[in-house]
Amino acid sequence: MQIFENQGHKIIQADCIEALQTQICDNSVDLIFADPPYNIGKDFNGLADKWETEESYLEWCYEWLDLCIAKLKNNGSMYVMTATQFMPFFDIYLRKKVSIISRIVWYYDSSGVQAKNKYGSLYEPILFCVKDEKNYTFNSEAILVEAKTGSKRKLIDYRKNPPQPYNTEKVAGNVWEFPRVRYRMPEYENHPTQKPMALLERIIKASSNENDLVLDPFSGTFTTCAVAQMLNRHSVGIEIQEEYVKIGLRRLGLQNEYQGEKLLKELKSYEKPSNELALKLFEPNGTSIYGNH
Ligand SMILES: C[S@@+](CC[C@H](N)C(=O)[O-])C[C@H]1O[C@@H](n2cnc3c(N)ncnc32)[C@H](O)[C@@H]1O
Repeated sequence: MQIFENQGHKIIQADCIEALQTQICDNSVDLIFADPPYNIGKDFNGLADKWETEESYLEWCYEWLDLCIAKLKNNGSMYVMTATQFMPFFDIYLRKKVSIISRIVWYYDSSGVQAKNKYGSLYEPILFCVKDEKNYTFNSEAILVEAKTGSKRKLIDYRKNPPQPYNTEKVAGNVWEFPRVRYRMPEYENHPTQKPMALLERIIKASSNENDLVLDPFSGTFTTCAVAQMLNRHSVGIEIQEEYVKIGLRRLGLQNEYQGEKLLKELKSYEKPSNELALKLFEPNGTSIYGNH
């Protein structure tokens, strides 16, 4: 286990169960965002996202879910994701232990999904749970979205006396449309299931306040921690894979070097010079404006 920490942000490189058991105090966390492997065969830099059976995947999930619940403060909130086929099991398991406040659908349009013999998969479910349904943070004013009836259609509500224009804004509903993270987006990192910053921004703004502690037990590219940092929250991110921890160290500005390696963001293919241009830019001593080669 390795721990990196600076100015209210901690990265723990470890198995999440071990880290949750030994590094996080019970009743200490305001908000948890848990985006585990989905058991659908992704490749997390050599770590297989596939369990022998569905039962063994769910058993493992129930273990870290129980630990997450223990780490939450009594007024804390937890958002949990998994694949559509496993979410019903999570829901049934969790509803005995916490209050499920919203069942959210994160919808995205994707021209890459071109199923021919079934309906293409264009959403991922998110459960929003709290320990105490009478006492939890929900900053509705921080997550207002456009209400088209008032803002675009400019309709008047004649049921009111006197008649009034419809509101132009409303609190976000439970279907969220955010584009998936694409290669060309500035926030893109080299990871197969990176979540969009916009999605985490909504969650963190709604369910935490400044200086609160946000925990992500499966940090991946550390989107949760990076957004928490931008929004002046504290964060703890757990991730087992060293390559992804290096992304986190860079993204959070905790370190710009790791074991002698400079932590620079890799250039996108279209940002690299074409071969001809590259040859001109390379100097005889083997350096280029893009660094040593
Ligand atoms: C779905 S991804 C999380 C993506 C993240 N939300 C993001 O925005 O980049 C799941 C992550 O969990 C990590 N992981 C898998 N098993 C783990 C374990 N036992 N403990 C900690 N992290 C684990 C994987 O390496 C992967 O990066």
